[in-house]
Amino acid sequence: MPLTEARVSYLDHGYFYGYGVYEACKAFAGKIYALAEHMARLNKSLRALEIRPELSGAALRRCMEELVAYSGYAEAFLYLQITRGVGWRGPGRPAGPPFTTMFVTELESMSAEEWDAGVAALTLPDERWAHPDIKSLNLLPNILAKEKALAAGAQEAIFYNDRDWVTEAASSNVFAVSAGGEIVTPPLDGHILAGVSRLLVLRRARADKIRIKETILKRAELARAAEIFITGTGAEIIPVTRLDGAQIGAGRAGTWTRRLYDSFLQAKKAFIA
Ligand SMILES: Cc1ncc(COP(=O)(O)O)c(C=O)c1O
Repeated sequence: MPLTEARVSYLDHGYFYGYGVYEACKAFAGKIYALAEHMARLNKSLRALEIRPELSGAALRRCMEELVAYSGYAEAFLYLQITRGVGWRGPGRPAGPPFTTMFVTELESMSAEEWDAGVAALTLPDERWAHPDIKSLNLLPNILAKEKALAAGAQEAIFYNDRDWVTEAASSNVFAVSAGGEIVTPPLDGHILAGVSRLLVLRRARADKIRIKETILKRAELARAAEIFITGTGAEIIPVTRLDGAQIGAGRAGTWTRRLYDSFLQAKKAFIA
């Protein structure tokens, strides 16, 4: 059905509490990209919240593939949401089964000029809930941070914790390149989401013998980085060229960011072909 006609119950616990999980993936010519990685993360999120959907993993995949095929989009964005289910708002879990919805839209991408110009980012204290490693629907702190970033003329918010260590961005993972050409991204220590794009970038960098490390990234190190970039399924790899109002590097997409992005695009092309 058209997305604007889709309805869900007011009593859905996803609506009440953000009690649910989601995945966002993309598909090219009907084939879902990094499907195994997205399904693995979905299952991990579902297990963490003890949500057991009525559909098996295989049936869910079939629905996703059918929806993508039905859309007819050459490049599609698929969003899948599974909530705790429908039931009275009160203590305890709802009587109803988990509720699964999904939609597909055409994939949007940046123009080459927009990409080259990069985006501005703002660093903010990471005040989100205690389990950012679960891709849950508790997105309010992320949305609020993004709103603050927008109000400050930036497009993304980058969080740091009470030790001044960078964690991740409101809807993406963060990488910094030092003046010596070493790339650093915070580790999967339970305080960040295990981004699929982050994983794909690490894989590509290692295959290309690029020096990359998963380690603590201090806020001060981020501020003096030669290059910063963020990764996400929608964002792919985007250079951050301004941080807290200051220029990063030359104020344009840097060499390492570009190199990794080219490598990332090659992998995507190979998948599409
Ligand atoms: C907080 C957060 N970190 C990182 C990411 C990037 O994850 P992925 O690369 O799997 O899209 C997202 C994506 O929505 C996110 O919400």
